Amino acid sequence: MSGRPLVLGIETSCDETAAAVVGPGRVVVSSVVASQVDLHARFGGVVPELAGRAHVELLTPVVAEALERAGASGSPPVDAVAVTCGPGLMGSLLVGLSHAKALAMAWEVPFIGVNHLEGHLFAALLDHPDLEWPLVVLLVSGGHTVLVLVEGLGRYRLLGQTLDDAAGEAFDKVARYLGLGYPGGPAVDRIAAGGDPRAFGFPRALMDDGYDFSFSGLKTAVVRTVDRAPEAEAADVAASFQEAVVEVLVAKARRAVAATGARGLCLAGGVAANSLLRRRVAEACQEDGVAALVPSMAMCTDNAAMIAAAGQWRLVHGPASPLSLGADPNLFLGAERAEHR
Ligand code: KG4
Ligand code: ZN
Repeated sequence: MSGRPLVLGIETSCDETAAAVVGPGRVVVSSVVASQVDLHARFGGVVPELAGRAHVELLTPVVAEALERAGASGSPPVDAVAVTCGPGLMGSLLVGLSHAKALAMAWEVPFIGVNHLEGHLFAALLDHPDLEWPLVVLLVSGGHTVLVLVEGLGRYRLLGQTLDDAAGEAFDKVARYLGLGYPGGPAVDRIAAGGDPRAFGFPRALMDDGYDFSFSGLKTAVVRTVDRAPEAEAADVAASFQEAVVEVLVAKARRAVAATGARGLCLAGGVAANSLLRRRVAEACQEDGVAALVPSMAMCTDNAAMIAAAGQWRLVHGPASPLSLGADPNLFLGAERAEHR
């Protein structure tokens, strides 16, 4: 049991039902994640209706376990409730949001809506408490691919984003096409280890052009290649695809760090678990003399500790959220685009 105040975090934006308790100094006192991967696997992707219903079933026991593991049994058991209010799947977000509001009302404690993307940034902070600003964050997940300049906590500037598919979405689609199952990212990562990354010259869209990304052409190129050469080794296709994605991600992130004078490059989001991306980011940062902030595997994927930590910071630096706060499936991080383009 940590000292007070304690913040309960709740995350239900996609297919992870999670709750966590964070104490003073951003200490993670408990963190419980119930993954729905098995539920969605046979459909080859997240089915929003099923995700929403599973969150309804799982959230009460997951929150109870997080509180119990934290030894948070007082009255109130925690001092604030933070919850992801977007971006994400509407039905899933609403489950977490209404649950969090009910708890905050019953316990008469502040309620804080947290941007999921800001949560991913705090995940990096939980792993690296000594982060120094400014930083460039490459946030790559199933729903997002953004390059953000973080000038300090709460001060975000969008440098670029994907114009079509998210990086994780491309991994998932290519995996499905290669018959590797769901979730696709880890499967492509695994099989690519035994393949030749130079077997196929897949396109590197917008490589030397600004900070925006595009992955839909790459996905189409993979499909066309396999259709034309059905005998191609899946491992070679996976390795060549992964090489193309990682090369573009790292080249743009690296350019952004140089252009902004950032002290380091921080990876966040589910695709940050990719072994090649982790290695290339570490190598590039070492070469460039800047810090490489690569989160632990547990902090790459969705969890509620990152939401509780972001909520704790928000609570100290601003007002709590009104109970009328709604879910925003397209909530965005950072205001205007930065001029480093
Ligand atoms: O952040 P996250 O858990 O959920 C979202 O907010 O989207 O990210 C999930 C995404 C999925 O697309 C998954 O395939 C991808 O992260 N992913 C990976 C790896 N592990 C997970 N992509 C590439 N390589 C991996 N090892
Ligand atoms: Zn996420």
